[in-house]
Amino acid sequence: MVSFLSVVHDRLYAWYQTNGRHDLPWRQTDDAYRIYLSEIMLQQTQVKTVLERFYFPFLKRFETLQSVAEAPLDDVLKAWEGLGYYTRAKNLHHTALTCQGVLPKTPEELGGLKGIGKSTAHAICAFAYRQALPILDANVKRVLCRYFALHVKNENVLWQKAWELLDTKRPFEYNQAMMDLGSMVCTSKNPTCNACPMKLTCQGKTYPENYPQNIKKPKIPIKKRFVSVVICEGKLGLIQRKERLLHGLWGFVQTDEKPEGRFLGIVRHTYSHFKLELEVFQPGCCTKTFDGWFDEEEIASLALSTVDKKILRCWRSMMMKSIVSNTD
Ligand code: ADE
Repeated sequence: MVSFLSVVHDRLYAWYQTNGRHDLPWRQTDDAYRIYLSEIMLQQTQVKTVLERFYFPFLKRFETLQSVAEAPLDDVLKAWEGLGYYTRAKNLHHTALTCQGVLPKTPEELGGLKGIGKSTAHAICAFAYRQALPILDANVKRVLCRYFALHVKNENVLWQKAWELLDTKRPFEYNQAMMDLGSMVCTSKNPTCNACPMKLTCQGKTYPENYPQNIKKPKIPIKKRFVSVVICEGKLGLIQRKERLLHGLWGFVQTDEKPEGRFLGIVRHTYSHFKLELEVFQPGCCTKTFDGWFDEEEIASLALSTVDKKILRCWRSMMMKSIVSNTD
């Protein structure tokens, strides 16, 4: 007898064959490092950005996990520059050192490494080693909530459902298909249920937008701070950041108090939990101590966060303007 679950699996598999994003480079390899790297980059960054700007350059600089382990953290941060959420790069470096360049093959061991949660561990095992394990990223959670008409995104319930629905014969295709379905068909807004291979047995298809229930996110706060761009003998004073979010990156001094000096402009940046608004000043003198003094060429070889690059651009454009107005 054909079970209804095997019908769902066959329909999903057929849909994936026709509609899936087979050309994504991390789907065309069984190299666990390349798959692991993609999963880490994709945790907080969109496929398009990872694909077009970061995945290949990173692999060109670090061809193997062993090469990550052998490099200083500063080099890994430099290669991660612009991708944001730098804890990911630090965890990647830590993991490379911990496992001496060779990733383990079980979800338990992988899950014990820094920066690898349960779903990422399962993704590495399912994609690199074809193990029959479900994954549970944000897209898959939405698909499951709708398919089983779950109002609430409860982790334990979702894992249970993820195991229930898993195609143990084709875990690679099943998991990739579930992710593609979530990003192409079962989208958070305007899902196209008519095009869905799971529509016959989907319990949420009449009111898909009811699942999961929309919990209104609180408005993110705006933090206002000040930046000092200090120059001495043609070199800029920088500090190496110690705070959690940008640890290890180089940048300009920020303060809560307004510094004395020339106002250069405003720099804005949005993080996941707050917006930052920085008023940039060039003080005449500064009593702060710096971790290093660098000219522009030297700064180009340091890892700077996107915010600090914006500050650098703000300072540079004011310098250009004053050069132009002085020569007028
Ligand atoms: N996000 C996380 N893993 C992914 C994958 N393998 N393909 C597309 N998007 C993803």
